[in-house]
Amino acid sequence: MEKFIVSGPTVLHGDVTIAGAKNVALKAIVVSLLTEEPIILHNMPHIRDVLLMLEVVRSLGATATFEGNTVHILDGKTGSTTVPLEIGARLRTSSMVLGPMLSRYGKAMIPNPGGCRIGARPIDRHIEGLKAMGATIDYSSTDGFFHAEAKHLHGADITFEKNTHTGTETLILAAVLADGTTVLRNAAEEVEIDDLISLLCAMGANIKRTEKREITITGVPKLHGTEFTIMSDRNEEVTFAIAAVVSKGKIVVHHSERRFLQEFLTVFEKAGGKFRAIDDTTTEYFYGGPLTAVDVTTGQHPGFMTDWQAPWAILMTQATGISTIHETVFENRFSYVEELKKMGATIEYFDPEVANPKEFYNFNFEDKAQDAHQAIRITGPTPLHNAITSMSDLRAGATVVLAAIIAQGKSYIHGVEQIDRGYEHIEERLRHLGASIDRIEEDTI
Ligand code: EPU
Repeated sequence: MEKFIVSGPTVLHGDVTIAGAKNVALKAIVVSLLTEEPIILHNMPHIRDVLLMLEVVRSLGATATFEGNTVHILDGKTGSTTVPLEIGARLRTSSMVLGPMLSRYGKAMIPNPGGCRIGARPIDRHIEGLKAMGATIDYSSTDGFFHAEAKHLHGADITFEKNTHTGTETLILAAVLADGTTVLRNAAEEVEIDDLISLLCAMGANIKRTEKREITITGVPKLHGTEFTIMSDRNEEVTFAIAAVVSKGKIVVHHSERRFLQEFLTVFEKAGGKFRAIDDTTTEYFYGGPLTAVDVTTGQHPGFMTDWQAPWAILMTQATGISTIHETVFENRFSYVEELKKMGATIEYFDPEVANPKEFYNFNFEDKAQDAHQAIRITGPTPLHNAITSMSDLRAGATVVLAAIIAQGKSYIHGVEQIDRGYEHIEERLRHLGASIDRIEEDTI
């Protein structure tokens, strides 16, 4: 176990290159199970979730190497159809192998998916869709595995009751080799899904966005290998944009996905954050004067992403006025709040009046824990000071690190493995920008 020691405050200045998108990379690895030919993936981020996902496909017989930022995968066709508990339960996206395994071998066993601790996060919408395509899936509480079988997967007309990002992708992965045509209605629109679709189409799949929130997939008998460069991580870019402003510095972001950050940039500018387009894929983010409180409500694409609200909270601790963040996608994504309060932030929970919460919220409302809140109110600006903190999910982790960078004094941050799930060499890149941050073994101090 490791922790970060961060001494602040520091102003961040310099250049950073955004890594490949975690939420494409993980699924691109699963895609390799759909073909017998080699898949070569470029711009793959060196993060723990990617390493775990490579272990998942290895456990199913694939050979996978990771050199530089390139992954080569060749499926071994060993016929193994069970994702081992010790690997699969640590990574929520391991459940996405269900479709390829069912297409290929007609059966699959996956452990109850794990991942970041952000609420209940069931996969009922994925399972219902796979069942509509002809699969039988039972969860055994005796062994904690989903047991899935399908003589053959066939096309189906499926309407998601609510938005689901990985649910949409899971059904695309199941439909590409199925018999006939699948129509996904109320399908998610996140741009990472389009990158995955581009990869599949480069392999010979027939997938089209036919209407708004509608995807039509016509099964093909076979997919071939390909070489593909995945898009950059726009969530990481948001983290660095906020880091620049909140530390009163200036960061030039290379491999910028600014074209997919319109909603973020609108509220960022409203709050007083500044940016300048240098070229199509280079953006400078900088502090340009006092910040103002701005309310945000998270939502599905093209709204303000749930992944941005945790770093946004840091920005709001430094803004003048009272701001609110209303989380509508997940039912428990405020784990960073107690950590920021330890550092001097003024934040309180509240529950906004919502006419029909069952429909309004993206999560299954019955999953809501009694003591979980859906919104916070931040009063700023407040100077932050050092603390001993921990990180309990990925975006919360980035937030606590940013807070420590602008806080007065030396902070100790436990739970570094959470941030390693999704940010490549974060401390090296922050150090390059001027932060004083060290990674040390938990027991050395
Ligand atoms: N949900 C269900 N049942 C389902 C599917 C989803 O109740 O079958 C609930 C979830 O629990 C959640 C909401 O519906 O409350 C939305 O879930 P969705 O399926 O859209 O999210 P996800 O696929 O679990 C992905 C990303 C998240 C990102 C969201 C929103 C990956 C691996 N994860 O999660 O990324 O926040 O979409 O875009 O792609 C992160 O990168 O830190 C992260 C959590």
